[in-house]
Amino acid sequence: MTTREPIRLLVFAASMRAESLNARLVRLVAAAVEAGGGTVDLASMREFDAPSYDGDLEDAEGMPAGAAAFRERLEAADAFIICSPEYNGSMPGVLKNAIDWVSRARPQPFNERHGLLLSASPSMVGGNRGLWALRVPLEHLGARIYPDMFSLAQAHLALDDAGNLTDERRRERLDATILKFLDLVEASKHYPCAKGAWIEFLGEPPDPQIDRVEA
Ligand code: FNR
Repeated sequence: MTTREPIRLLVFAASMRAESLNARLVRLVAAAVEAGGGTVDLASMREFDAPSYDGDLEDAEGMPAGAAAFRERLEAADAFIICSPEYNGSMPGVLKNAIDWVSRARPQPFNERHGLLLSASPSMVGGNRGLWALRVPLEHLGARIYPDMFSLAQAHLALDDAGNLTDERRRERLDATILKFLDLVEASKHYPCAKGAWIEFLGEPPDPQIDRVEA
């Protein structure tokens, strides 16, 4: 087990299915984070499920319970890891909806938070296209999405009955990706260099109507 300065990670699979391949992958990820010296807050997508974003509902009732839980768990974490299915070449609607609700919170909790993206799919590309789509709203919100991603191709064949990856090279690659990410999160939290304020377009004048963070 690696020892390092304390770092806490919110880890969840963005699938609601009991037999989810991504939920199986997330269990390996959580174990690797703990072995790598991180503290895991393991969540499920069900906990963050919310009605479709509706500005009138927001005005009348504020943030629904699932979105409020997502916000709180993000705020309590130094970084997040999502194992997401790919639906029709993109991310699941339930995940995008949760991101949309949480983006309304101030301070906006994705801003400057580190994230690592993984996917699992029965397909030969492992749901990787969905992760490129998922990057867009997260980076738009200022999240620092790790450049490397991990997509488990033919996931229904890749895991044994105990939930372990049968291929040693893929196991090594998964562990190495997670360890490198943890190194970055630790360095960012405990050995910070100068941090600039995030503004989407250089020179964009601050405007509360369109800002995604407090300027
Ligand atoms: C899928 N699936 C899928 N897979 C893929 O690799 N690319 C895709 O674009 C899609 N599109 C898609 C749309 C919808 C609506 C569903 C329900 C499924 C298959 C998907 O990868 C497979 O069902 C996974 O097992 C879903 O992830 P979980 O629930 O097992 O984690």
